[in-house]
Amino acid sequence: MTTPGQDGDHEKGVQVTKPLPLSAVVLAAGKGTRLRSTLPKVLHTVAGRPMLEWVLRAARAAGCEQIYVVVGHGADQVRNEIEADDVTWVPQEEQLGTGHALLQVASHLQAPTTLLVLSGDVPLVAPETLVRLAASARSSWGSMVVAEMPDPGSLGRVVAAPDGSLQRIVEVADATSEELENHWINAGIYALPAPDIFEFVEQLKPDNAKQEFYLTDALTAAADGGQDLALVSLPEVEEAFGVNDRLDLARVHGVLLRRKVEALMREGVSILDPSRVVVEVDVEVGRDSVIHPGVSLTGRSRLGEGCTVHQGAWLRDAQLGDQVVVEPYCVLEEVEVGNACRIGPFARMRPGAVMKERAKIGNFVEIKNSVLAQGVKVNHLAYVGDATVGENANLGAGTITCNYDGVSKHRTEIGKGAFVGSDTMFVAPVSVGDGAMTAAGSVISKDVPPGALAIERCEQKTVLGYAKRKLERRKIRKQ
Ligand code: UD1
Ligand code: CA
Repeated sequence: MTTPGQDGDHEKGVQVTKPLPLSAVVLAAGKGTRLRSTLPKVLHTVAGRPMLEWVLRAARAAGCEQIYVVVGHGADQVRNEIEADDVTWVPQEEQLGTGHALLQVASHLQAPTTLLVLSGDVPLVAPETLVRLAASARSSWGSMVVAEMPDPGSLGRVVAAPDGSLQRIVEVADATSEELENHWINAGIYALPAPDIFEFVEQLKPDNAKQEFYLTDALTAAADGGQDLALVSLPEVEEAFGVNDRLDLARVHGVLLRRKVEALMREGVSILDPSRVVVEVDVEVGRDSVIHPGVSLTGRSRLGEGCTVHQGAWLRDAQLGDQVVVEPYCVLEEVEVGNACRIGPFARMRPGAVMKERAKIGNFVEIKNSVLAQGVKVNHLAYVGDATVGENANLGAGTITCNYDGVSKHRTEIGKGAFVGSDTMFVAPVSVGDGAMTAAGSVISKDVPPGALAIERCEQKTVLGYAKRKLERRKIRKQ
């Protein structure tokens, strides 16, 4: 057999940004039965983005002027979640196969175009590959992406003609055991001339194991009819990974996370055990930051330079300045943390929590919708919700803002340099002036003026000798 893809398609340095007279169709109507999910297949996320979003980004980056997405199963949900206004949504009411899906686009195309046909479930495709594919299609009738895979699974197999172009594609369900020994696979990514391709698609018949209208059969028919379909092979086979079940999903997810982590390390971030962190694609980390094992950095989290995030911390949409230390097992969500702050271990910052420079929160401290000014310390076992805490104030162990009266939330204001005794309850709304103090164990429900001490607890009664007498009585009883 001739080895596919040896027609000089390995050249590097392709200009990705150059606009090309290209259109793309993304086939995304299938149910994805083998995922066993209520969520439409193409909305399953890999590395923080829905699969379809990855494919759309690649199509845009390759310079496609028009992008059509064929939707069917869960169409409304797909349209709502993806929210792309540069996309034309094309319905496929019944999912009768990839050929049938492509046919739905025929009536939408106004002028002849080179049509990139992509699959919503092949999310790793790189824009560079699409540019190369389109270039190859311009010097032949059409082109398609192939790869030689050690473990080709359920992917269609590509047989090359003696001249290196496509002879035919065999689907696994229809293949003989001999045909399955061929490990050259069809990635499901094509550049095809439109409207010419529709002549072949219109002729399709569902006479195969799945009783579907296979797009692959249209390509085999074109090759049979003498059309030259160039085979473009991939230097990195992982680009052709498709997602048909949850195992595939995990594999693709792993590839994307590994790429992200490797990019960060190249940019000067230390990642102590790259196989044991999750860093989603939109996360930014400044150089000389150190990420320990078991850390998840997700969403749009942004870390400055020289930060250290210890074991087991989970961050989503967290903005950290420089030199921030996050001790083990902290949870930070939609928060802002200034330079040189320290957090944790075992601290939780909920949405709207803001820490200014050098502020510190310690173990078992929860902060929500509150601003801690520069140098504030909340070191142990506290709940601070809907509060403003002034510079260098110190909140003792067990401080709690009682912010909720069962109906609405109220604010607590604590002034600069205030010293809050351990186990103080603030019954909000309430305020404590600059430099004021509260005594340990006080329930503060009235405003405290600046510089004052508020103490709210019963006077201590001391009964001399009581404990000693009690112990002695016990001893006598036991004898
Ligand atoms: C397809 C190819 C196979 C290739 C593989 C690459 C066919 C017949 N087979 O197989 O050769 O190796 O992709 O990943 O094309 N879709 C629709 N409408 C439909 C059916 C499918 O929009 O009626 C969409 C799906 O949502 C999916 C894509 O087309 O995004 C591919 O369909 P799928 O059923 O997953 O094809 P494979 O069996 O993976
Ligand atoms: Ca598939």
